[in-house]
Amino acid sequence: MDHFQYKDGAMHAEDVALSQIAEEVGTPVYVYSTATLRRHYRVFKEAFADIQPLICFAVKANSNQAVLATLAREGAGADVVSLGELMRALKAGIPGERIVFSGVGKTDEEMEAALHAGIKQFSVESEAELEALNVVAGQLGKVAPVSIRVNPDVDAMTHAKISTGKSENKFGIAWQKADSVYARIKELQHVKAVAVNLHIGSQLTRLEPFKEAFTRVVALVKDLRAKGHDITHIDLGGGLGIPYDPEAEAPPAPSAYGEMIQDVMGNIDCDIILEPGRLIAGNAGVLLSKTIYEKRGENRIFYIIDAAMNDLTRPAMYDAYHAIAPVVEPSSAETAVADFVGPVCESSDVFAKDRKTTPLKSGDLVVIKSAGAYGAVMASTYNSRPLVPEVLVDGDRFAVIRKRQSLEDLLALDTLPSWLSDDEV
Ligand code: LLP
Repeated sequence: MDHFQYKDGAMHAEDVALSQIAEEVGTPVYVYSTATLRRHYRVFKEAFADIQPLICFAVKANSNQAVLATLAREGAGADVVSLGELMRALKAGIPGERIVFSGVGKTDEEMEAALHAGIKQFSVESEAELEALNVVAGQLGKVAPVSIRVNPDVDAMTHAKISTGKSENKFGIAWQKADSVYARIKELQHVKAVAVNLHIGSQLTRLEPFKEAFTRVVALVKDLRAKGHDITHIDLGGGLGIPYDPEAEAPPAPSAYGEMIQDVMGNIDCDIILEPGRLIAGNAGVLLSKTIYEKRGENRIFYIIDAAMNDLTRPAMYDAYHAIAPVVEPSSAETAVADFVGPVCESSDVFAKDRKTTPLKSGDLVVIKSAGAYGAVMASTYNSRPLVPEVLVDGDRFAVIRKRQSLEDLLALDTLPSWLSDDEV
């Protein structure tokens, strides 16, 4: 359930009319609902009432510090993949002991910062990274808590570009090799094995791949413990899908996911870490946009809107489906079939093809739904379009939580070399 609903014929985010946000902040703009963020976090947490996992929100899904601070107040930890994300999480009030660091290419600088922050775990993805971490921790006189990200070689049955758990993917260390890597950890002075982790992909709509992978990990943990490794927790990653298309297949409910995990874990007596991103933030946000033109092609209608693939890249990148709805509630049953496209000069700048919609005219506002995860964070300035703002709603109030980038700021990022500047001429 989300809090973007029609009230008195106008779409609201909680108790704020989206038309008011468009008027005051302009479009395109991302709008997030505090109540939905909280609700999703709580529903997820309740699905695991018996095992009380540490829920580390995957910051890559939505890294706005106001979103992170909202979740931090619910008790969330963070899964970060860069120094920037680590800094955002810390600034938003998430303490180091609730932060895990994932990613295939951590640099010395990132490792140092994370060691200083006293993070809970480094999810190590290669033998080279393990050796580097040992050196960096040694220089600081510390011992780094390590988890090896194992690649369970399981097909997540999701889009190829967001699958991570097959042996051909760049992620993790083959699970058959885990044994020797944990043995190596024992030989090193400045790293200590505390966990095993995995993440097999994103937007999974079935439980079976998770179950297959988690079962492998449980067996591995038992084996490692038998060999004297003090594994205190298992990090199962993120990946549970959300309903983007209400008419398509529904992903499993968090409660079913929770039951499956409790079942697979049995009485292993390990703390559990989970790293949901999309499930918490995806349906907590929309991209609010305005129709610029209606264009009648040979045999199709195009609605050209002011948002584009640089603002929300998922449809162009993954052929992702996003529901689109008018901000003014349709008052008649009249429909049109149209393509929703952006102004960017690329054929892939299409949000929806052949979409049944209420007819729109220039100036009409629409929302692109389920845009709270992997939306603003993946935006670029392609076509010299400034980054769009983000707004957080809470009840009947709202605040701009990232301002619109100005054209001056965008242009000021470039500098002319001396030989091209007028001063030298
Ligand atoms: N943990 C790790 C190690 C991850 O790599 C990811 C996502 C997550 C957790 C969170 O997964 P989630 O619960 O959000 O599925 N840009 C793509 C998604 C990329 C996901 C990358 N890793 C998209 O827009 O669909």
